Amino acid sequence: MSAQNQTRRKTVKDLAAAKGETPLVCLTAYTAPMAELLDPHCDVLLVGDSLGMVVHGLPSTVGVTMEMMILHGQAVMRGSKQAFVVVDMPFGSYETNPDQAFLNAAELMQKTGCQAVKIESGTFARAQIAHLVERGVPVMGHVGLRPQAVNVDGGFRAKGRTEAGWARAIEEAVAADEAGAFAIVVEGVSQDLAAEITNAVSCPTIGIGASPTCDGQILVTDDMLGMFDWTPKFVRKFANLRGEIETAAKDYAAAVRERSFPGADELYRIKRPQKDTS
Ligand code: KIV
Repeated sequence: MSAQNQTRRKTVKDLAAAKGETPLVCLTAYTAPMAELLDPHCDVLLVGDSLGMVVHGLPSTVGVTMEMMILHGQAVMRGSKQAFVVVDMPFGSYETNPDQAFLNAAELMQKTGCQAVKIESGTFARAQIAHLVERGVPVMGHVGLRPQAVNVDGGFRAKGRTEAGWARAIEEAVAADEAGAFAIVVEGVSQDLAAEITNAVSCPTIGIGASPTCDGQILVTDDMLGMFDWTPKFVRKFANLRGEIETAAKDYAAAVRERSFPGADELYRIKRPQKDTS
């Protein structure tokens, strides 16, 4: 099939055009079947390093590796057709210097086919973002609450509680914007701070625990599907899959134990072959 006949994926241009217009719909995805379900409804699918906690049971995203991001990135690309797919750069893959960031970003793009990477962008990352964008790697920034900094922060805590913290979040966003980020995730800040950040930058902001005035919203899909008993206060559960799965598992166990599963319609009807006497 020629490239022209394939479904067109959204591009950075489509996302830029949404600033101040229709809110961008973004969700995380880690697997092919989930990407296939989400793809028709989303502008952006993020293969977030939250997969370390959500899928692999890690206590934070710090233990996530390039190998994990590549494997899940490949799955999401296989399952999606039209959404813009961003893969997170894991902790330790970009902080050292811009060259390290480029080598790892290029590996993520080449091995997964994703269209962009995300960096949790403290002001130090200005150099990394500019270096990547200049070399053909679209970068999404991530400011405010940066989960990879959990050990410095002493937990996952909302940002902008002090004057300095408020100013730092704006500084981080402006640095990412000026360096050429095509969008910026704004996580765990007050509504007013999110609005200030959104007004201060030229690219779209994607809020999570932030404000409806951001240019788009993102949630961890498993959170919004109700897969966990506990979720942060900013999560709205649009389904209760945890309850559905618990009920299904209980019903399956009962059916197996009482031998009502498999039933007559769930069995192959192949007659026993006759012995070949020839
Ligand atoms: O890793 C992730 O899923 C994220 C989103 C929550 C923005 O960074």
